[in-house]
This record gives sequence, C-alpha cells and structure tokens, in this order.
Amino acid sequence: MKSPRSFYLPLAIGAPAPFRENPVRLERMIHFVPPHLEKMRAKVPDLVAKVDVILGNLEDAIPSDAKEAARRGFIAMAKDTEFGETGLWTRVNCLNSPWFLEDILEIVPAVGHKLDVIMLPKVEGPWDIHYLDQLLAQLEAKHAIARPIQIHAILETAEGVKNVEAIAAASPRMHGMSLGPADLAASRGMKTTRVGGGHPHYMVLSDPAEGQQRTAHQQDLWHYTVAKMVDACLSYGLKPFYGPFGDFSDPQACESQFRNAFLMGCLGAWSLHPSQIDIAKRVFSPDPQEVAFALKILEAMPDGTGAVMIDGKMQDDATWKQAKVIVDLATQVAS
Ligand code: GLV
Ligand code: MG
Repeated sequence: MKSPRSFYLPLAIGAPAPFRENPVRLERMIHFVPPHLEKMRAKVPDLVAKVDVILGNLEDAIPSDAKEAARRGFIAMAKDTEFGETGLWTRVNCLNSPWFLEDILEIVPAVGHKLDVIMLPKVEGPWDIHYLDQLLAQLEAKHAIARPIQIHAILETAEGVKNVEAIAAASPRMHGMSLGPADLAASRGMKTTRVGGGHPHYMVLSDPAEGQQRTAHQQDLWHYTVAKMVDACLSYGLKPFYGPFGDFSDPQACESQFRNAFLMGCLGAWSLHPSQIDIAKRVFSPDPQEVAFALKILEAMPDGTGAVMIDGKMQDDATWKQAKVIVDLATQVAS
C-alpha cells in the first residue's frame, strides 16, 4: 500500500492531503449512544446538530440481554434520522462474540447505505480486518451498497499494539484507529481500574536535593501507545483518535488527556457523556492564537522555503509544514 509520506511540501499548494480521501467531515468527537434505550434514541435528532459523529454502541456497556434490542434500536435510529453532515458509525461486538455476525448481517443490509464507519473492537491483527473487509464486500455487492463502509479499529489489546502497523495496512477500507485504554489496561495486566486518564501513582520523583522538598510529576500512561498509533496511522493515511475518558466528574483531567492526544496528532476522541462534547470540540479545534501565529508563518514564507524570524523564533520549511496542518484544520473547522 502506498504511503502518503510522499507529501513533500516545498511548494505545497495543491499537495495531497495527509489522509486518504474519505467523505471528510470533522470527527472531533465520536459521540456514543446506547441504542437499546428508547429515551437515549429520542435525543439523537437534537444531537445531530451538536456533534460531528454519532455512534450506536452495541459492544461493552450494553448488557448481554440487551444486545438484540441495541441492534434493533440502532437500525431504527439510523432509518429514522436525517444525519446531514454528521457521521453515522456503529461499534459492533467483537469478532469472537456470539453477536458479531448478526450485528453485521442485520445492520449492513438494513442501513448500510447510510453507515459511514464500523468500529471494530479488540482488533489483534490484520486477519481481523481482512475478515470484516470480505464480509462487507459480499454484503455491499449483494445489497447494491455503492459507497464502501469504512473500518475503524480499536487498539485495545497487547497483541493489537504489537501488530498496529499491519492493522493500519490491512485494507483500503481502514478509516482510522482509537486507543481503547480500558481493555488495553486489562490486556496488558496494568494495575488500574479506570477508563483512560492518568494514575496518581504513575509518576517520576525529582532527585533529592539538600534542603529541598522532592517534587512528584505524574506521567501520561498512554503516551507510548498514542505515539505508536499515530505513527502507524499517519504512515498509511489513516486517522488516529484518543478513545474514552470514563471519569465524568473530572472535566479538567478529560480535557488534559484529550489535549495531549491532540498535540500528539489525534483528530478527535470519544464523548461518552454530553459534557464531553464541548470539551472535545474545544480541544480538537485549533487554538485561535496558534492559528494566528501559523498564518504569520505561511504569509512570511509564501513558497514554503527559506528561514525567517517571527517574534524571535526561527521558522523554516519544517515549521511552515506544521503551520499548514494547523491552518488547514482551522479552515476545515470554519467551513
Ligand atoms: C474502550 O473500548 C476501552 O476499552 O477503553
Ligand atoms: Mg474496549
């Protein structure tokens, strides 16, 4: 598969975008809806105007005796709603569960023409993507679904992290990946009981110094995995996402975790609670001050080459490219 690395950008006007051609919309928050609950489904028409993507969740957090109801509820919600520019995704059950096959066999014929992305949990290797890829190809052919449904993998097993590059390369249907910190923690044997975020005991102590208190600095448990996922995604033109943040009572920590992911290259995160919609919107839209500075760089170097000083800081071809990423995102947000 061709890597988009060839986007060498000195005179980059009209250069190819770093991501594959998708029906590109903003995807700053993937908003999770439990479709077995009628009360929650009833909120979907209002949500459409507020979020970038609505996802009907069929997997974890849906009780096993509500799996069929969730599937039926998702189909009803997809049929009854006009989504406009808002993305429609579903998270199906994992491949070796008793529900996966019916999830696909019932949803794709019924609403496949409206469905943008299937999020596949607990992906361990390219073989998982190949299986879903072929199944979708058969169903799309049989039901005359003209627009290919994309696949988004959750990176949430140690085996999956080991195989992340092969997963990214597994199919042209690949849309992107999300970090699944809760399952990944369990799979790795981490000693936590959280859905994403940090841990007060994961820290580095400053060296002892005469007469001074030692200071403790909490570290980001997810830095390594997010970095690995971003590199794998970007080298195959896919979109990387942070996943869930489970402590709804701590919006500051949620914002900080999302912001780390944004700065590291992620395009969005999951919103599991309405309060996280605005957090994600704020974090994954570039800061106006950064955009203003990035515009100064682009204006100072019209052909993207050379070196200039702006506000005492050296800028060159490489910072021009960084500035272009920020300005392009700001343009997309504004449009
Ligand atoms: C998400 O699915 C997670 O396991 O964190
Ligand atoms: Mg999970």
